[in-house]
Amino acid sequence: MIEILRLGHRISRDKRISTHVALVSRAFGASKLYYTGQKDSEYEKSVNDVVKDFGGDFTIEYAKNWKELFKGKTVVHLTMYGLDYREKIKEIKGNILIVVGGEKVEWKIFELADYNIGVTNQPHSEVGALAVFLDHLTNSNYKSFNGKIRIKPCAKGKQFY
Ligand SMILES: C[S@@+](CC[C@H](N)C(=O)[O-])C[C@H]1O[C@@H](n2cnc3c(N)ncnc32)[C@H](O)[C@@H]1O
Repeated sequence: MIEILRLGHRISRDKRISTHVALVSRAFGASKLYYTGQKDSEYEKSVNDVVKDFGGDFTIEYAKNWKELFKGKTVVHLTMYGLDYREKIKEIKGNILIVVGGEKVEWKIFELADYNIGVTNQPHSEVGALAVFLDHLTNSNYKSFNGKIRIKPCAKGKQFY
């Protein structure tokens, strides 16, 4: 099981990037996204609407207390300060909770995570780090979603099954 925790969502500033965190989580095989910060029903609706149309059993849930979520999970915090994901990824096992930050990540997360992992040690984004990490974690074995909308890969234009 792979779950994601997005820290510190701000309604006024993070709507788009938090939505992208959720879409990447779902597309790359996670089953659930928790988020902290400000509760945002529009954010939840936009993610749930994608699930309705494109399928899968992905859920989104607001979390008041992130520490509770750490219990019984292998916690992987993605941070530009962390160890190289290419060296650590093979040892990461169990029910995995991947944590991504927003503006500033509190120090307790660095302390309590089982792994602090970097995807390059350069500053970029939670969306980029998450996509690369999930792709490697799942060996690029993508789920099948069986949604109402199913895209048929095509060389040009848009096709659907
Ligand atoms: C815009 S960055 C903010 C970084 C912030 N200065 C901090 O305290 O970590 C937002 C999030 O993107 C992710 N991130 C950015 N660069 C990363 C990298 N090179 N490797 C892994 N995660 C990264 C981390 O999860 C980070 O919390």
